[in-house]
Amino acid sequence: MKVHVDQQRCQGHTLCSMIAPKAFELSEIDGHSSPVDENVAHDQEDHVREAVHSCPERAITLTE
Ligand code: F3S
Repeated sequence: MKVHVDQQRCQGHTLCSMIAPKAFELSEIDGHSSPVDENVAHDQEDHVREAVHSCPERAITLTE
């Protein structure tokens, strides 16, 4: 499973990194989120799925 954060859509709401802190990191410059690793670790998959549904901007997408 691969994860992507659309930098145009992300508005820095931080929910993704609160839900899945091991999978997303926030930029200290603009507060935007990016994946720690685009290949999601198996033990992070459920957290990342929850983050996808929680992002108000729908900025996070998954590909299997
Ligand atoms: Fe950005 Fe959505 Fe996370 S707006 S910081 S990807 S919750």
